[in-house]
Amino acid sequence: MGTDRVYIFDTTLRDGEQSPGASMNTEEKLEIARQLVRLGVDVIEAGFPISSPGDFMSVRRIAEEVGDAAVVCALSRAVPADIESAADALKYAARPRIHTGIGVSESHLRDKLRISGDVALERAVAAVKLARTFVEDVEFYAEDAGRAEPEFLYRVIQEVIRAGATVVNIPDTTGYAYPERFGALIGGLVEHVDGIENVVISVHCHNDLGMATANALAGVAAGARQVECTINGIGERAGNTAMEEVVMALKARQDLFGIDTAINTKEITRASRMVSSITGINVQPNKAIVGANAFAHSSGIHQDGVLKERSTYEIIDPADVGVGGSSIILSARSGRHALRHRLEALGFELPDNEFEPIYEAFLDLADKKKEVYDEDLEALVGERERTLEELYHLERVQVVCGDPGIPTATVELVDRDGTHLIDSSHGTGPVDAVYKAINRIVDIENDLTEFSVKAVTRGIDALGEVTIRVRAANDRVFTGRGAHSDIIVASAKAYTNALNRLLESQSKNIEEEL
Ligand code: KIV
Ligand code: ZN
Repeated sequence: MGTDRVYIFDTTLRDGEQSPGASMNTEEKLEIARQLVRLGVDVIEAGFPISSPGDFMSVRRIAEEVGDAAVVCALSRAVPADIESAADALKYAARPRIHTGIGVSESHLRDKLRISGDVALERAVAAVKLARTFVEDVEFYAEDAGRAEPEFLYRVIQEVIRAGATVVNIPDTTGYAYPERFGALIGGLVEHVDGIENVVISVHCHNDLGMATANALAGVAAGARQVECTINGIGERAGNTAMEEVVMALKARQDLFGIDTAINTKEITRASRMVSSITGINVQPNKAIVGANAFAHSSGIHQDGVLKERSTYEIIDPADVGVGGSSIILSARSGRHALRHRLEALGFELPDNEFEPIYEAFLDLADKKKEVYDEDLEALVGERERTLEELYHLERVQVVCGDPGIPTATVELVDRDGTHLIDSSHGTGPVDAVYKAINRIVDIENDLTEFSVKAVTRGIDALGEVTIRVRAANDRVFTGRGAHSDIIVASAKAYTNALNRLLESQSKNIEEEL
């Protein structure tokens, strides 16, 4: 093993599965294992065979499936039965590794194992020797090393290397470490342990204080060359080190570390989504690298910068992690630049005089909604096009309804001469009341033959689009559309739109007749 790259040891299927509620069946584990191979991880920790027949079978099936694409590792305590079970489960692995170990902190020795340090050391050595009778690749974990006495840890690590360990894992089991101190602990091993140069130092950091990635990277800076991690950082309690964070930190800060991994980073997003969907553990939107907002820009200032040059606000190219691109979130904080850019991407090239009213309508909508989606913009532009040729423009609509209560509507229309016309009516429901109030102003015979409403965007604040059909006295049918976050207003717009068309067609007929 060289020194210029870090080996990625994925433990999503073992430590990750220890996340409450994350248990997976064998088929699901196989699906993730295939994705781990696509990602190019060096080691897959497939399970803890002695813990259950299901875990045993998963390790066996993964070992068969993965072949020589990665080392397949099985966990055990420093107990003969565990090690034998791990060896059995790995029987068909092309590149098997047994991971065995014991607690080394004062707390684990005194309160959990209730043995002395010397006994723990003896068991550690015996476990490694036994594991070596089955496989050549044996990793030793010094559980709770993050809280252990450094001198005792050095002693244990030196002895397990003599016993045949090929990889020595220094876990911060309780997530207690602090980057500077954890780096110093790894540096201490490099300095004080004989034979350390012949083995790989591994770090396995938990995230109880939110420092798992920082601690793992401090370990790498001090000489560790294997990082144990999980997709999306899932794992016991607050989780494990997130693979995507370590890998992308090493890539984005090559200038600092000068160390690479063999991970195909373009597979990161796919892996994240797969693990989230299989385990049912959602990724928080602001999660580094794989969160839904990781490449989303919301403020107008940031959007303007990113549209001019992506790197002004992005240190990672989203394509590098398999995301289509950055996203510009259109909201009340967005400016003209972002709106125009999005409209152009949707195929709307608007001259300034047409753009400004759309921008005003956008701000109006954005004040009502948290986020404005593409479908909203299409509806807004469609709406604008519809109002250009209006004989009557809907200025205001107000309804009172409820149960009990008489649905009543008041509408204000403006005609082509700029005259404001107001009238009211009651009806069987709010839409009926609105339509009757409009009829009192426009006074043109028609029957409403169809009415449909659909949400054009997502969420409770979605823009509703109403489509209606009216039949005129001469049997011709006219369609009307209207969109608004209030479906009563959308209905009023749709009806006004249909009546405008009807009136326009009538005036054309009259012109033709004259
Ligand atoms: O956190 C831990 O110490 C572990 C070991 C079993 C490696 O998961
Ligand atoms: Zn762990």
